Amino acid sequence: MSTNDIKIAPAKEADLSGAEALFRDRFGDEAAVPPFSEADTFFVAKYDEQIVGAGALFTSFLHREIPRVAIAVREKFQRRGIGRDLHRALTKRTEGTPGFDGACFDDDADAIGFLSRLGYRPSLDCFIPVVDTAAGVSDGALPTGIEIASFASAANPIERKSSLDFLVASYIRTHHWSPVAIGPNDPLWEKIAFRGLRDDFSLVARRDGKIVGASTAHVEEKALQIRWVFAPFPDASQELEILKGLVGAQLARAHESGLETATFECDSTDPVLFQIPRHLKVLSAKTWRRFRYAP
Ligand SMILES: CC(C)(COP(=O)(O)OP(=O)(O)OC[C@H]1O[C@@H](n2cnc3c(N)ncnc32)[C@H](O)[C@@H]1OP(=O)(O)O)[C@@H](O)C(=O)NCCC(=O)NCCS
Repeated sequence: MSTNDIKIAPAKEADLSGAEALFRDRFGDEAAVPPFSEADTFFVAKYDEQIVGAGALFTSFLHREIPRVAIAVREKFQRRGIGRDLHRALTKRTEGTPGFDGACFDDDADAIGFLSRLGYRPSLDCFIPVVDTAAGVSDGALPTGIEIASFASAANPIERKSSLDFLVASYIRTHHWSPVAIGPNDPLWEKIAFRGLRDDFSLVARRDGKIVGASTAHVEEKALQIRWVFAPFPDASQELEILKGLVGAQLARAHESGLETATFECDSTDPVLFQIPRHLKVLSAKTWRRFRYAP
């Protein structure tokens, strides 16, 4: 077989199930790659009419400018330049894009080797611990004058709107590494921020009635999934104390409700949140590493 026998072309409808099977096979369930059919741009590599490689660009409507690249090649066909050719095809069709993201877990030497050879550079690490709710937060002491309440006890529409505004402004500000494509007043934010949320586990911190922090959560697979944690203080030590207070209160509520574990994501672009796991009992953890390629 010569590499000339391998043809790269845009995926057709009939290729989708084969390409999706290849993605599942090569990425596994854990790797957080969306189904191939959700891609915006996709190519397949075929040898003798069989799919031996597939590549896709995923564009989240929230972060439209920087698509995420995912490429998979059948083991038997690796190291013949198919991955590189798929990457070329994918990135050629979107000239003018400021960059592309690649992502994998930090122990995935193959993906890291491949992305690095293509010119991707690490952009951030996202640490994902699973923590023991019974252990709570060590040495947490809320700064004076801060009160924590659940969304359930702040269910009136005005308070809900101010919680939403706070969450959206904080989310946009912290995503400077991946610009947000919709404006702060877009009605879609309500869906994004509140969908599936558990009001009893989602908390706001107030000082003199004003929201100074919030942490949202939902429950999945009998574990508390902490979603957005923000307390944008100019003073980082106060920010840390409020974040610890919010997360500590969420863990206590989860423990009382019989949820033994909680998980959340904290990335290296947020140095204060990144300190939180040090104050928790971490049972296991993985690190999701993002890479950026600027053509
Ligand atoms: C990663 C993967 C797509 C590579 O496909 P491939 O067809 O073997 O890659 P190529 O042959 O085109 O290699 C392109 C470059 O990456 C390098 N490379 C490929 N795999 C590598 C590895 N495991 N370690 C180090 N470098 C590697 C090649 O040496 C080549 O560099 P060169 O041209 O300068 O010699 C394939 O191994 C795979 O499907 N892995 C599982 C899914 C995955 O991890 N995808 C990557 C995340 S998007």
